[in-house]
Amino acid sequence: MAYTVPKLKDFSSAILDKAADKLLAALDEESKTVSSEAEWKAFRDRWMARKNGVLTQINELWLKAAPKDAKRDVGQRVNEIRQKIEQKVDGAKARLRAPVMEVEHSGIEVPVEELEKYAGGIKRDADRLDITLPGIRRPLGAEHPVIKTMNEIVSVFRDLGYSVREGPEIETDYYNFEALNFPPNHPARDMQDTLFIAHQESKPLRERLLLRTHTSPVQIRTMEQMKPPVRIVIPGKVHRNDPPDASHSPMFHQIEGLAVDSDITFGDLKGTLDHAMKALFGSSVKTHFRPSYFPFTEPSAEMMVSCFICGGSGKRGSEPCRPCKQTGWIEILGCGMVDPNVYGFVDYDPRKVSGFAFGMGADRMALLKYGVDDIQLFFQGDVRFLEQFA
Ligand code: PHE
Repeated sequence: MAYTVPKLKDFSSAILDKAADKLLAALDEESKTVSSEAEWKAFRDRWMARKNGVLTQINELWLKAAPKDAKRDVGQRVNEIRQKIEQKVDGAKARLRAPVMEVEHSGIEVPVEELEKYAGGIKRDADRLDITLPGIRRPLGAEHPVIKTMNEIVSVFRDLGYSVREGPEIETDYYNFEALNFPPNHPARDMQDTLFIAHQESKPLRERLLLRTHTSPVQIRTMEQMKPPVRIVIPGKVHRNDPPDASHSPMFHQIEGLAVDSDITFGDLKGTLDHAMKALFGSSVKTHFRPSYFPFTEPSAEMMVSCFICGGSGKRGSEPCRPCKQTGWIEILGCGMVDPNVYGFVDYDPRKVSGFAFGMGADRMALLKYGVDDIQLFFQGDVRFLEQFA
């Protein structure tokens, strides 16, 4: 005979225990008979339907009817019974078929076993899977902002037909200085704050090793290896004995350029660099050259670009513009026509060829481009800083 919920004569523990046992025994019995989807639905409704389900009935007949001092006890028991009913109803459903995951609202069912083969991050919860749980995160790396800037500069020159050359960071005195027209004891060597490698006094000066202070030695190495015409850019790391601060680092990056052909003029130098700056910083940027000195170029110049932060006005609203120190111009590179003496070191004929060279600080370009105010941030490896450029 099917179970019916009795009215309780009193609400003593003993009576409640008995009533609960009877109910649970009936629940267990009936759950075992479920063998089809239709039977399961009937089972579920009999026990859980809001209208007249067993759960509703015990709420009415037991809980609501209980006298005040028994309410707590009855309430607790009814709760336990509810949990058991829910478990049995879910369990009966699960036993009906091999476990599957229902993709919510889609009607699609996927066998749990299949999914577990592929989805490392999916967690099995009884017989359900929560596909909304986050998977296993594999963070991707990103280009470093300085490398990214170097790549951009390189690609501007690639588009002009330049190729890329690289050279060693540990260099000889010959390539870093002598062949670039810095004679021994020339005062221009002082400007370079060179880091020398120790204990080489027994070697001739030109063979002594140092950390290259600029990428210019690769000009020499390239011209030794190829005849003119030459059009190259040279990205790379350089070192100088500068204490670190917001705008200095003992290791930094340069991009060098060299063009040598039969009739290259200072006009070519200006036109090329003006084009490159417009490609990098926008077409409204202006360039300006002022005289300078490098032993391996003659004449030599420093190139300025109009400040793209303040548009050349030197002011940001009523505030002074810091990146250009209120001048409206930012110094961006050193350049010049290749000094004829240099050709003598690489077996080029100075009567037949001419060319220009330039070198810019890539870190400085990146600082300006991204509005970063401390070069040290580039080299501290703090992911919170670096991931902003991903
Ligand atoms: N090598 C120079 C420096 O590091 C820059 C430069 C390169 C100047 C090429 C002229 C030509 O200061």
